[in-house]
Amino acid sequence: MAYNLLKGKRGIITGALDEHSIAWQVAEKAHEEGATFVLTNAPIAMRMGEIKKLAEETNSQIIPADATSVEDLTTLFIQSQEILGGKIDFVLHSIGMSVNIRKAIPYTESNYEYFMKGIDVSALSFHKILAVAKKLDAINEWGSVVALSYAAAQRTYPFYTDMADIKAMLESIARSFGYHYGLAKKVRINTVSQSPTKTRAGTGIKGFGDFYDYVDAIAPLGNASAEDCANYCITLFSDLTRMVTMQNLFHDGGYSTTGVSLDVMHKLGIQY
Ligand SMILES: NC(=O)c1ccc[n+]([C@@H]2O[C@H](COP(=O)([O-])OP(=O)(O)OC[C@H]3O[C@@H](n4cnc5c(N)ncnc54)[C@H](O)[C@@H]3O)[C@@H](O)[C@H]2O)c1
Repeated sequence: MAYNLLKGKRGIITGALDEHSIAWQVAEKAHEEGATFVLTNAPIAMRMGEIKKLAEETNSQIIPADATSVEDLTTLFIQSQEILGGKIDFVLHSIGMSVNIRKAIPYTESNYEYFMKGIDVSALSFHKILAVAKKLDAINEWGSVVALSYAAAQRTYPFYTDMADIKAMLESIARSFGYHYGLAKKVRINTVSQSPTKTRAGTGIKGFGDFYDYVDAIAPLGNASAEDCANYCITLFSDLTRMVTMQNLFHDGGYSTTGVSLDVMHKLGIQY
Protein backbone atom coordinates (compact mmCIF):
# COMPACT_ATOMS: atom_id res chain seq x y z
CA MET A 1 0.00 0.00 0.00
CA ALA A 2 1.43 3.37 -1.05
CA TYR A 3 0.88 6.71 0.71
CA ASN A 4 2.50 9.13 -1.77
CA LEU A 5 5.03 9.96 0.93
CA LEU A 6 7.70 10.94 -1.59
CA LYS A 7 5.52 12.55 -4.23
CA GLY A 8 7.54 15.15 -6.14
CA LYS A 9 10.81 14.25 -4.41
CA ARG A 10 14.05 13.58 -6.27
CA GLY A 11 16.65 11.14 -5.02
CA ILE A 12 19.91 9.29 -5.53
CA ILE A 13 20.01 5.62 -4.53
CA THR A 14 23.38 3.86 -4.29
CA GLY A 15 24.11 0.16 -3.84
CA ALA A 16 21.37 -1.79 -5.67
CA LEU A 17 23.26 -4.85 -6.86
CA ASP A 18 20.50 -7.46 -7.16
CA GLU A 19 16.95 -7.94 -5.91
CA HIS A 20 18.22 -8.98 -2.45
CA SER A 21 20.04 -5.66 -1.93
CA ILE A 22 18.48 -3.38 0.65
CA ALA A 23 18.91 -0.53 -1.86
CA TRP A 24 16.89 -2.48 -4.46
CA GLN A 25 13.97 -2.64 -2.06
CA VAL A 26 14.35 1.05 -1.21
CA ALA A 27 14.22 1.93 -4.92
CA GLU A 28 11.04 -0.10 -5.42
CA LYS A 29 9.37 1.53 -2.41
CA ALA A 30 10.54 5.04 -3.37
CA HIS A 31 9.04 4.50 -6.82
CA GLU A 32 5.76 3.31 -5.30
CA GLU A 33 5.72 6.39 -3.06
CA GLY A 34 5.98 8.77 -6.01
CA ALA A 35 9.69 9.68 -6.04
CA THR A 36 11.90 10.03 -9.10
CA PHE A 37 15.54 9.07 -8.66
CA VAL A 38 18.84 8.09 -10.20
CA LEU A 39 20.38 4.70 -9.47
CA THR A 40 24.12 4.44 -9.02
CA ASN A 41 26.66 1.76 -8.25
CA ALA A 42 30.35 1.04 -8.79
CA PRO A 43 31.20 0.64 -12.49
CA ILE A 44 32.14 -3.01 -11.81
CA ALA A 45 28.61 -3.74 -10.51
CA MET A 46 27.18 -2.57 -13.85
CA ARG A 47 28.74 -5.53 -15.60
CA MET A 48 26.38 -7.84 -13.77
CA GLY A 49 23.54 -6.04 -15.55
CA GLU A 50 20.91 -6.68 -12.86
CA ILE A 51 20.52 -2.99 -12.07
CA LYS A 52 19.13 -2.37 -15.59
CA LYS A 53 16.03 -4.39 -14.66
CA LEU A 54 15.46 -2.15 -11.66
CA ALA A 55 15.99 0.98 -13.77
CA GLU A 56 13.34 -0.18 -16.25
CA GLU A 57 10.92 -1.13 -13.49
CA THR A 58 11.27 2.27 -11.76
CA ASN A 59 11.73 4.49 -14.88
CA SER A 60 15.15 5.51 -13.59
CA GLN A 61 18.45 6.30 -15.19
CA ILE A 62 21.73 4.77 -14.03
CA ILE A 63 24.92 6.75 -13.45
CA PRO A 64 27.94 4.57 -12.63
CA ALA A 65 30.10 6.04 -9.86
CA ASP A 66 32.85 4.65 -7.68
CA ALA A 67 31.88 6.03 -4.27
CA THR A 68 35.55 6.45 -3.33
CA SER A 69 36.07 8.91 -6.21
CA VAL A 70 35.22 12.56 -5.56
CA GLU A 71 35.35 13.11 -9.33
CA ASP A 72 32.76 10.37 -9.99
CA LEU A 73 30.55 11.66 -7.18
CA THR A 74 30.71 15.23 -8.52
CA THR A 75 29.56 14.00 -11.93
CA LEU A 76 26.85 11.95 -10.22
CA PHE A 77 25.36 14.95 -8.42
CA ILE A 78 25.63 17.30 -11.43
CA GLN A 79 24.06 14.79 -13.84
CA SER A 80 21.37 13.67 -11.38
CA GLN A 81 20.12 17.23 -11.00
CA GLU A 82 20.03 17.61 -14.80
CA ILE A 83 18.15 14.34 -15.28
CA LEU A 84 15.69 14.88 -12.44
CA GLY A 85 15.15 18.59 -13.13
CA GLY A 86 16.23 20.13 -9.85
CA LYS A 87 17.97 19.72 -6.52
CA ILE A 88 18.00 16.39 -4.69
CA ASP A 89 15.67 15.66 -1.74
CA PHE A 90 17.03 12.32 -0.55
CA VAL A 91 20.13 10.15 -0.81
CA LEU A 92 20.59 6.54 0.25
CA HIS A 93 24.13 5.39 1.08
CA SER A 94 23.94 1.59 0.87
CA ILE A 95 27.58 0.70 0.31
CA GLY A 96 29.67 -1.78 2.24
CA MET A 97 32.71 -3.90 1.48
CA SER A 98 35.55 -5.36 3.56
CA VAL A 99 38.40 -7.23 1.88
CA ASN A 100 39.43 -8.58 5.29
CA ILE A 101 35.98 -10.19 5.65
CA ARG A 102 35.99 -11.44 2.06
CA LYS A 103 39.33 -13.13 2.64
CA ALA A 104 38.26 -14.44 6.09
CA ILE A 105 41.19 -12.71 7.80
CA PRO A 106 40.77 -12.68 11.62
CA TYR A 107 40.39 -9.20 13.17
CA THR A 108 43.63 -9.42 15.17
CA GLU A 109 45.54 -10.17 11.96
CA SER A 110 43.85 -7.51 9.80
CA ASN A 111 45.65 -6.55 6.63
CA TYR A 112 46.00 -2.74 6.82
CA GLU A 113 45.84 -2.13 3.10
CA TYR A 114 42.51 -3.99 3.05
CA PHE A 115 41.45 -2.15 6.20
CA MET A 116 42.08 1.23 4.54
CA LYS A 117 40.17 0.09 1.47
CA GLY A 118 37.22 -0.90 3.66
CA ILE A 119 37.25 2.49 5.39
CA ASP A 120 37.38 4.32 2.06
CA VAL A 121 34.59 2.30 0.41
CA SER A 122 32.25 1.88 3.36
CA ALA A 123 32.68 5.01 5.53
CA LEU A 124 34.69 7.78 3.86
CA SER A 125 32.44 7.41 0.80
CA PHE A 126 29.64 8.74 3.02
CA HIS A 127 31.71 11.81 3.91
CA LYS A 128 32.64 12.28 0.25
CA ILE A 129 28.99 12.07 -0.89
CA LEU A 130 27.99 14.66 1.71
CA ALA A 131 30.95 16.94 0.99
CA VAL A 132 30.32 16.89 -2.76
CA ALA A 133 26.59 17.54 -2.27
CA LYS A 134 27.29 20.43 0.11
CA LYS A 135 29.92 22.00 -2.14
CA LEU A 136 27.56 21.86 -5.14
CA ASP A 137 24.60 22.91 -2.96
CA ALA A 138 22.84 19.94 -4.58
CA ILE A 139 20.43 18.99 -1.77
CA ASN A 140 17.22 20.92 -1.04
CA GLU A 141 16.56 22.34 2.43
CA TRP A 142 15.04 19.64 4.68
CA GLY A 143 16.55 17.01 2.40
CA SER A 144 17.37 13.67 4.01
CA VAL A 145 20.43 11.44 3.73
CA VAL A 146 20.44 7.91 5.17
CA ALA A 147 23.29 5.40 5.43
CA LEU A 148 22.97 1.77 6.52
CA SER A 149 24.85 0.56 9.56
CA TYR A 150 25.11 -2.44 11.85
CA ALA A 151 25.04 -3.00 15.63
CA ALA A 152 28.71 -4.04 15.61
CA ALA A 153 29.43 -0.30 15.78
CA GLN A 154 28.39 -0.43 19.46
CA ARG A 155 29.00 -4.03 20.54
CA THR A 156 31.46 -6.72 19.54
CA TYR A 157 30.69 -9.35 16.92
CA PRO A 158 34.01 -11.15 16.41
CA PHE A 159 33.37 -12.24 12.81
CA TYR A 160 32.39 -8.70 11.69
CA THR A 161 36.11 -7.83 12.03
CA ASP A 162 37.16 -4.44 10.60
CA MET A 163 33.62 -3.57 9.49
CA ALA A 164 32.74 -2.98 13.16
CA ASP A 165 35.24 -0.12 13.36
CA ILE A 166 34.22 1.11 9.92
CA LYS A 167 30.52 1.24 10.87
CA ALA A 168 31.42 3.16 14.03
CA MET A 169 33.10 5.72 11.78
CA LEU A 170 30.10 5.81 9.44
CA GLU A 171 27.78 6.58 12.36
CA SER A 172 30.14 9.27 13.61
CA ILE A 173 30.17 10.92 10.18
CA ALA A 174 26.35 11.10 10.33
CA ARG A 175 26.62 13.04 13.60
CA SER A 176 29.56 15.26 12.61
CA PHE A 177 28.35 16.14 9.11
CA GLY A 178 24.76 16.25 10.31
CA TYR A 179 25.64 19.18 12.55
CA HIS A 180 27.30 21.25 9.82
CA TYR A 181 24.83 20.43 7.03
CA GLY A 182 21.88 20.92 9.38
CA LEU A 183 23.11 24.34 10.42
CA ALA A 184 23.93 25.44 6.88
CA LYS A 185 21.01 23.99 4.91
CA LYS A 186 18.72 22.05 7.25
CA VAL A 187 19.80 18.80 5.59
CA ARG A 188 19.15 15.78 7.81
CA ILE A 189 21.64 12.93 8.14
CA ASN A 190 20.97 9.62 9.90
CA THR A 191 22.13 6.02 9.94
CA VAL A 192 19.79 3.03 10.16
CA SER A 193 21.21 0.07 12.06
CA GLN A 194 19.59 -2.86 10.30
CA SER A 195 19.10 -6.52 11.35
CA PRO A 196 21.22 -9.17 9.62
CA THR A 197 19.78 -9.42 6.11
CA LYS A 198 20.36 -12.10 3.46
CA THR A 199 22.07 -10.00 0.78
CA ARG A 200 25.35 -10.36 -1.14
CA ALA A 201 27.23 -8.30 1.50
CA GLY A 202 25.49 -10.03 4.42
CA THR A 203 25.98 -13.63 3.35
CA GLY A 204 29.65 -12.86 2.57
CA ILE A 205 30.26 -13.00 6.33
CA LYS A 206 31.50 -16.40 7.54
CA GLY A 207 28.81 -18.35 9.43
CA PHE A 208 26.14 -15.80 8.47
CA GLY A 209 23.27 -18.35 8.32
CA ASP A 210 23.66 -19.55 11.93
CA PHE A 211 24.23 -16.00 13.11
CA TYR A 212 21.06 -14.87 11.33
CA ASP A 213 19.03 -17.55 13.13
CA TYR A 214 20.62 -16.70 16.49
CA VAL A 215 19.74 -13.00 16.21
CA ASP A 216 16.27 -13.89 14.95
CA ALA A 217 15.73 -15.93 18.13
CA ILE A 218 16.72 -12.97 20.31
CA ALA A 219 14.69 -10.19 18.68
CA PRO A 220 11.10 -10.27 20.00
CA LEU A 221 9.81 -9.27 16.56
CA GLY A 222 12.40 -11.38 14.72
CA ASN A 223 14.86 -10.03 12.16
CA ALA A 224 13.71 -7.09 10.07
CA SER A 225 13.67 -7.88 6.34
CA ALA A 226 15.19 -5.76 3.57
CA GLU A 227 11.65 -4.73 2.62
CA ASP A 228 10.94 -3.57 6.19
CA CYS A 229 14.20 -1.64 6.14
CA ALA A 230 13.17 0.01 2.88
CA ASN A 231 9.86 1.10 4.41
CA TYR A 232 11.71 2.64 7.33
CA CYS A 233 14.10 4.49 5.02
CA ILE A 234 11.10 5.90 3.12
CA THR A 235 9.73 7.40 6.33
CA LEU A 236 13.13 9.02 6.93
CA PHE A 237 13.12 10.50 3.43
CA SER A 238 9.60 11.82 3.93
CA ASP A 239 8.50 15.10 5.52
CA LEU A 240 7.03 13.16 8.46
CA THR A 241 10.48 12.93 10.10
CA ARG A 242 11.68 16.48 9.48
CA MET A 243 13.22 16.98 12.92
CA VAL A 244 15.15 13.70 13.04
CA THR A 245 18.85 14.16 12.37
CA MET A 246 22.31 13.00 13.58
CA GLN A 247 20.81 9.75 14.91
CA ASN A 248 21.70 6.11 14.65
CA LEU A 249 18.28 4.45 14.48
CA PHE A 250 17.96 0.77 15.29
CA HIS A 251 15.75 -1.17 12.93
CA ASP A 252 16.13 -4.65 14.32
CA GLY A 253 12.88 -6.03 15.78
CA GLY A 254 13.96 -5.05 19.30
CA TYR A 255 17.22 -7.04 19.22
CA SER A 256 19.52 -4.23 20.39
CA THR A 257 17.68 -3.70 23.68
CA THR A 258 16.92 -7.33 24.53
CA GLY A 259 19.02 -8.69 27.38
CA VAL A 260 17.84 -12.27 27.65
CA SER A 261 15.67 -14.14 25.15
CA LEU A 262 13.40 -16.94 26.38
CA ASP A 263 13.64 -18.54 22.95
CA VAL A 264 17.45 -18.80 23.18
CA MET A 265 17.22 -20.10 26.77
CA HIS A 266 14.80 -22.82 25.64
CA LYS A 267 17.13 -23.73 22.79
CA LEU A 268 19.91 -24.15 25.36
CA GLY A 269 17.62 -26.46 27.34
CA ILE A 270 17.06 -23.91 30.13
CA GLN A 271 13.45 -23.74 31.33
CA TYR A 272 12.30 -20.54 32.97
N1 LIG B 1 23.04 -7.49 4.88
C1 LIG B 1 23.14 -7.23 6.18
O1 LIG B 1 23.07 -8.12 7.03
C2 LIG B 1 23.30 -5.80 6.64
C3 LIG B 1 22.98 -5.46 7.97
C4 LIG B 1 23.17 -4.13 8.39
C5 LIG B 1 23.67 -3.19 7.48
N2 LIG B 1 23.97 -3.57 6.19
C6 LIG B 1 24.53 -2.55 5.28
O2 LIG B 1 23.63 -2.31 4.22
C7 LIG B 1 24.37 -1.74 3.13
C8 LIG B 1 23.96 -2.43 1.85
O3 LIG B 1 24.38 -3.77 1.84
P1 LIG B 1 23.45 -4.99 1.39
O4 LIG B 1 23.34 -5.91 2.55
O5 LIG B 1 22.23 -4.52 0.71
O6 LIG B 1 24.42 -5.75 0.36
P2 LIG B 1 24.73 -5.58 -1.19
O7 LIG B 1 25.94 -6.43 -1.44
O8 LIG B 1 23.53 -5.85 -1.99
O9 LIG B 1 25.12 -4.02 -1.33
C9 LIG B 1 26.41 -3.50 -1.14
C10 LIG B 1 26.65 -2.54 -2.30
O10 LIG B 1 27.86 -1.78 -2.18
C11 LIG B 1 28.27 -1.52 -3.50
N3 LIG B 1 29.66 -1.05 -3.55
C12 LIG B 1 30.78 -1.74 -3.15
N4 LIG B 1 31.87 -0.99 -3.42
C13 LIG B 1 31.43 0.18 -4.00
C14 LIG B 1 32.08 1.34 -4.49
N5 LIG B 1 33.43 1.46 -4.46
N6 LIG B 1 31.33 2.33 -5.02
C15 LIG B 1 29.96 2.23 -5.06
N7 LIG B 1 29.31 1.15 -4.60
C16 LIG B 1 30.02 0.13 -4.09
C17 LIG B 1 28.10 -2.90 -4.15
O11 LIG B 1 28.20 -2.86 -5.57
C18 LIG B 1 26.72 -3.27 -3.65
O12 LIG B 1 25.71 -2.80 -4.52
C19 LIG B 1 25.84 -1.88 3.50
O13 LIG B 1 26.33 -0.67 4.03
C20 LIG B 1 25.82 -2.95 4.57
O14 LIG B 1 26.93 -2.91 5.43
C21 LIG B 1 23.78 -4.83 5.75
